[in-house]
Amino acid sequence: MATALAKAAESTAAVEHAARIEHVSKSFPGPAGQQLVLDDITLDVAPGEFVTLLGASGCGKSTLLNLVAGLDRPTAGTITTDGRPALMFQEHALFPWLTAGKNIELALKLRGVPKSERRGRAEQLLELVRLKGSYGKRVHELSGGMRQRVAMARALAQDSQLLLMDEPFAALDAITRDVLHDELTRIWAETGVSVLFVTHNVREAVRLAQRVVLLSSRPGRVAREWRVDMAQPRRIEDAPVAELSLEITDVLRGEIRRHGQH
Ligand SMILES: Nc1ncnc2c1ncn2[C@@H]1O[C@H](COP(=O)(O)OP(=O)(O)OP(=O)(O)O)[C@@H](O)[C@H]1O
Ligand SMILES: [Mg+2]
Repeated sequence: MATALAKAAESTAAVEHAARIEHVSKSFPGPAGQQLVLDDITLDVAPGEFVTLLGASGCGKSTLLNLVAGLDRPTAGTITTDGRPALMFQEHALFPWLTAGKNIELALKLRGVPKSERRGRAEQLLELVRLKGSYGKRVHELSGGMRQRVAMARALAQDSQLLLMDEPFAALDAITRDVLHDELTRIWAETGVSVLFVTHNVREAVRLAQRVVLLSSRPGRVAREWRVDMAQPRRIEDAPVAELSLEITDVLRGEIRRHGQH
């Protein structure tokens, strides 16, 4: 009985966060010995929450995301996630010899979806990212924005509770990026997935997030957090978005002044 209760408590605890980062530090070997890149980071992402991780170039955002993804291990501290996260990067990383549809099907295959269901599911995911009819298109036939949509569909194909995104729209023009912000917000609301989104663009961070976490540089530490209580969908030009962005930019500038720009 006691064990059953303990188990129940454990399983409730397990769904309280999509990601839990506890006292995580990371060092890399450098010319002058070990270089401390991340210092004692503690951060939770709640189920269904949208968190943006903001910081100057080189402050350790990608390093932290890679640790959460399990691609590397922290030097100290622990990271737990609710299942295996899905990842999306600035480069789409689609297989150019496969069609849009087959790229998505590959992700479905890797997670054990039976062959007979893959085509239908891939078509549904393409519809979700508004690429209906692009199943047979090859990567070179797609625009940059369309490729990122396919990459998003492929990430969603993994059916993860947590989506990790590392500047996925940074290489796109402003208008395409705007459209994809809308799409991502819609998909987030529709699927209930948790998102940890890395960017150095303050406006983008505020446009998207329920919570913005600012990392300092050298070493990366959680400098400050802001709750963003504005209703979605927002526009990047909205006055409250601009106002909060200004406030955050001032703090970010202070951080950069203090630690030197990379
Ligand atoms: N594998 C590695 N080996 C050694 N140093 C590394 C390694 N990965 C990252 N670093 C160093 O860690 C620091 C943080 O890098 P990281 O890529 O995480 O920054 P970032 O915040 O993502 O920057 P950007 O906004 O430019 O993408 C940098 O000084 C980088 O040189
Ligand atoms: Mg990076």
